[in-house]
Amino acid sequence: MPPSLTLQFLRFHIPTSSPFLLTRCSTTAVAAAVSQSESSLSKAMDRLAGNAHLMIVSDLDHTMVDHHDPENLSLLRFNALWESKYRSNSLLVFSTGRSPTLYKELRKEKPMLTPDITIMSVGTEITYGNSMVPDDGWVECLNQKWDRNIVSEETRKLRELTLQSDTEQRPHKVSFYVQKDKAQDIMQSLSTRFKERGLDVKIIYSGGMDLDILPQGAGKGQALAYLHKKFKAEGKLPKNTLVCGDSGNDAELFTIPDVHGVMVSNAQEELLQWHAANAKSNPKIIHATERCAAGIIQAIGHFKLGPSTSPRDVTDSSDAKMETFDPAYEVVKFYLFYERWRRAEVEQTEQYLANLKAVCSPSGIFIHPSGSEQLLRDCLSSLRTCYGDKQGKQFRVWVDQVLAQQVGSDSWLVKFKKWEQSGEERQCCLTTALLSSKDVTVTEGLTWVHVHQTWLDGAGPNSQSSWLF
Ligand code: GLC
Ligand code: MG
Repeated sequence: MPPSLTLQFLRFHIPTSSPFLLTRCSTTAVAAAVSQSESSLSKAMDRLAGNAHLMIVSDLDHTMVDHHDPENLSLLRFNALWESKYRSNSLLVFSTGRSPTLYKELRKEKPMLTPDITIMSVGTEITYGNSMVPDDGWVECLNQKWDRNIVSEETRKLRELTLQSDTEQRPHKVSFYVQKDKAQDIMQSLSTRFKERGLDVKIIYSGGMDLDILPQGAGKGQALAYLHKKFKAEGKLPKNTLVCGDSGNDAELFTIPDVHGVMVSNAQEELLQWHAANAKSNPKIIHATERCAAGIIQAIGHFKLGPSTSPRDVTDSSDAKMETFDPAYEVVKFYLFYERWRRAEVEQTEQYLANLKAVCSPSGIFIHPSGSEQLLRDCLSSLRTCYGDKQGKQFRVWVDQVLAQQVGSDSWLVKFKKWEQSGEERQCCLTTALLSSKDVTVTEGLTWVHVHQTWLDGAGPNSQSSWLF
């Protein structure tokens, strides 16, 4: 009988503890856009049979991603929680001020998951799925009453405005830097000038330095309202929505009806001031005591939106609480152990190796991305020699898009991307694993029957590090 794989982890999760406005983009334009682009939405959401349990709409810089934490610990904790408990029934939406160019750069720098929907350029660009299919309906909606030339003409007259890089100038977004002490006056004067020219635009100040000019119907909040409308039209409105942010361009996320919201502990002054003036009495919005992604986890717990303990924070006993077989959890847990074994953060005991061996089917096969075949059990034996080889080094392992499909009365096919970062080097394998519950109990955990890996395009083998599994 394979005993369950027990992991000894630190526990450091401490759960603690509006005014509404809707789309200004004309209702008919939105309705037309909604029906036009329904197909891209439903295609991306096909894997969800019904309503999403939870939709997280999160800003990236200083919210999901902590730029002051080179270890990316809270992000990795969130990732493990999302993949083990939410990926299969929920929706992850990233909503960033970054253009597609800078967004893709961030994804290369940080261990980020793949979102179901990506909203970029301060709510002016919406894309779906891994291939980031753009929502053309949204573009059409934003074209209404927008004249980029007038924006350029009027802003050129103000010397206090410094244009941001070319990548950040987008069809429905013109962006500048403005000194904090000048921001209020500049915004006022711009607003008057645009009014005189008959242009209805939105001016947003974020992070104490960025000034964005967008169509009035754009912005992170309007983009979310648009998505909600589309989901509603399909009868797939998520049961709960949690919005997460830290700066000025996130404020309008908190104005969307019925959403829960978290301002992370490190939120900017401009967001906190906006909250104090506009949303103080809304109990569905909290200011977390935790930074960035840890604040998001805290909010999930505070609002009781679902499990809020990351597998990265659990101790041995937690497995005992499981009521059903959980293939996604099994995968997350396995690779977490693998990371900790190589970092020497678990004890080096024969018992662990024996346990691992026991969760592999005796005839189970592992197909390495190079194409070579090995018995799963032999492959695990190689762990013996690499205990602690990454001790004190930057070595992290995370899994992305873990999706399990039951393929028999006692078997699951689990597909996921397994990432490994060692120093600056990153590698990723598309992984398919067959797990079985035959002859085991829930507490013992599933048996690994077959594992097959292939390199993800562009993240294949490198000279520096070898790939175990
Ligand atoms: C991101 C964008 C920038 C924008 C800022 C605030 O940093 O790159 O263009 O001004 O977000 O929205
Ligand atoms: Mg931010």
